[in-house]
Order: sequence, then C-alpha cells, then structure tokens
Amino acid sequence: LKNGLALTPPMGWMSWGYYMCGVKCDENPDKCLNENLILSVADTFYNEGYQEAGYEYIIIDDCWSEKERDLDGRLVPDKKRFPNGMKYIADYIHNRGLKFGMYTNIAAVTCMHYPGSKDYFDIDAQSFAEWGVDYLKVDGCFVKENDLNTGYIELGQELKKAGRPMVYSCSWPYYIQYIHNKKPDYSPIAKHCNMWRNYHDVVLTWPALKVIMKHYQNEYDTISPYHGPGHWNDPDMIIFGTGVLNENQSRVHLAVYLMLSAPILLSCDMNKITRYEKKLLQNLDLIAIGQDMLGVMAKPYQLEQSVTLWVKPHLPKKGDIFHSFSFAVVNLDDQQHLISIFPLAYGVNSTDGYSVMDVFANTFKNNITLKESFEVVVPPEDVILYTLFPL
Ligand code: DGJ
Repeated sequence: LKNGLALTPPMGWMSWGYYMCGVKCDENPDKCLNENLILSVADTFYNEGYQEAGYEYIIIDDCWSEKERDLDGRLVPDKKRFPNGMKYIADYIHNRGLKFGMYTNIAAVTCMHYPGSKDYFDIDAQSFAEWGVDYLKVDGCFVKENDLNTGYIELGQELKKAGRPMVYSCSWPYYIQYIHNKKPDYSPIAKHCNMWRNYHDVVLTWPALKVIMKHYQNEYDTISPYHGPGHWNDPDMIIFGTGVLNENQSRVHLAVYLMLSAPILLSCDMNKITRYEKKLLQNLDLIAIGQDMLGVMAKPYQLEQSVTLWVKPHLPKKGDIFHSFSFAVVNLDDQQHLISIFPLAYGVNSTDGYSVMDVFANTFKNNITLKESFEVVVPPEDVILYTLFPL
C-alpha cells in the first residue's frame, strides 16, 4: 500500500502471542491485557534501549473491547481493563515518541467473539483515527471468500477517509489460502495493505518456528515478488521472552526473520526477555539486515537436507556501486555441518572483493575476492550470519 508508511518492516510489540485474550485478570494477573501492560511496554521500549534500536509500534490485539457497541454504534474499550480509554494510551505512547496499534476484524465479530467491524467500517475507522491509532491489524475470521476480497479494500478506503495515516495489516491471504483453500492473488493485497499474514499463527514452541521458516522457504517464488517497502509478507510474531528457545535457536529465529525483511513484533512479558535475547534484539548490525531500505526477501538455497543458505542483497551505500549482501547459513540438524560457499554463485559481483563481518561474533573475518569461497562450521540448530561489504 502506497501510504508512505512501513517503508521498512514495522518493529514493535503485540499482545496476542503471549497474552492472548488476557481477560481473566483477577485469576491470572500475570497474563492480563490491560492499560498497565500496554503502558509498561511503552516504558520498557523508552527506557531500555528498544526504541533506539527501532522498536516502535505497540499493538493491542483481540479482546480489548466491551461486548456491545455504544448507542451511536461505536466500539467501546473494556471499561475495567482500559478505564481511561484508548486516546489516553495513545497519548502516553506518543509522548514517548512511539506508535500505537489496535485490532479489529472484517466480520461482525472478532475471532474471540468481540464486536468486529462489518457494517461499521466508517464509524470504526473514525474511532481509530480519533483515538490516535497508527497501525491497525485486521483479522479475517468468519469471513466469506468474497467478503475478504472486498472487505479489506473497503475498510482501507474508510481508513483513508478518516484521515489519519495507519499501517494497514491484513490477514487476507491467510484466510483465502487456509480457510477457503484458494491461491491468494497477491497483487490487490500488496496494493491495499502494508503487510499481511500468509500463514498460521505462531505458537510458543521451536518446532512451530521451524515449520514457519520452512513455509517461507517453500513459498519464496510465490510471495517474494510482492514483498518490499510499504508491502510486507508477515510470518507472525517473534517468541523471545517466553523461555522456549535456547540461545542458538533464538539466533536462528531472529536471523531468518531479519533475512526475510519480516516485521519484528515481539510478544512476551518484556521483563522476561533474557539478557542474551535483549543483546540480540538490540544488535544494530543484525537489525540493519532486516531494516535495510531495499527490503528484499532473502532467497533460500537448500544446500543439504537440513542446511539452508539465505542470501539477501542490501541497498548500496551512498556513492557505492556494488551492493552489500548478507549470507545466513542455517543448520536445523542435530549435527554440526561444514559448508563451503562461493559467493560469486549468488550474485555477489564487486571486482575489488568484500570485507566479511561475522554479525553474531561482532568480528571481521579475512577479506575475500570474487575468486574465493569461504567455509563455515555451523553448529547444530544454529546459524552463521555474515554481511559482506564491497571493498
Ligand atoms: C487470529 C490471528 O491470526 C492472531 O494473530 C490473533 O489476532 C487472533 N486471531 C486473535 O483472535
């Protein structure tokens, strides 16, 4: 969608993956989706270096509203959990230089049976705009195929009329493909949405992540042409801070999502992010790989049964003719693998050669020329990630 937003993949936090509905606050105060939670994420972003690293959007997912609209047909935030309303939250977030996101559904109810936006696109778009929303996630549960194809476009038009620029995040292709069993037509989707979910929800396990990464590898040819500044494929949230990944798995998770130029949306109790995860999330050489302005999805090459090489070109620096490139060698086997890579075979072309940064080790290896290959030993369930800069 050409609305000047999401020129790089959005980064931030979203409630669903970890908190899900989060309505049973008395019973389960640690998993409560309420005003305090959202403000505390804003404080953490602001105070603990996340904002400087690019984390910006704080997004409330499903289950934020009362079960009924008000007499004027407007959505009403849950009075107990959001006692000061959404404008208050938006102001708090904006005062810290951050951005605010919310959620609705194209159908009459959301996936969790809260009021959805069907028949109220105009009123809801106005509410979101008045409240100061900067990002809207729009789900597609219970929507007929045809209504998906028209609904996302119509709601998008109402958002435009409402006059406040919002990143428009759609689930359109997901529901077309996995609920209606059709191949999505990505051209209207990329035209009308800033980002879209292609595949199933992430659940908090390592095997779930492996399935997602495989999916994006297999779908590369279909979805990569539609991926770029202002229009992104979205493999769903990052599951750091949930205790399910060891250090090498967390490297793989974040590296592959950045290589895909995927949105980076955390979903966790921010206080449970480990020191190591925080270091990764705030590693600027790493983040730069996913936030580079070219916004190309890395191309996957299956080198061995369990080893995939992902190759991603970056925008040349001012004055440079040649692109820099990132190479991620991902090993999902339980054995280490020795892999030899000849970069010239993957489009690398600077005749003066390249300097080679090992992104996780934060060191430079020996420079290479176009005639050389380099070798890496990839430990089990791990990734070696190099960025090559033209000399
Ligand atoms: C399905 C979506 O894919 C999830 O990300 C989340 O928004 C839930 N619906 C909320 O009900």
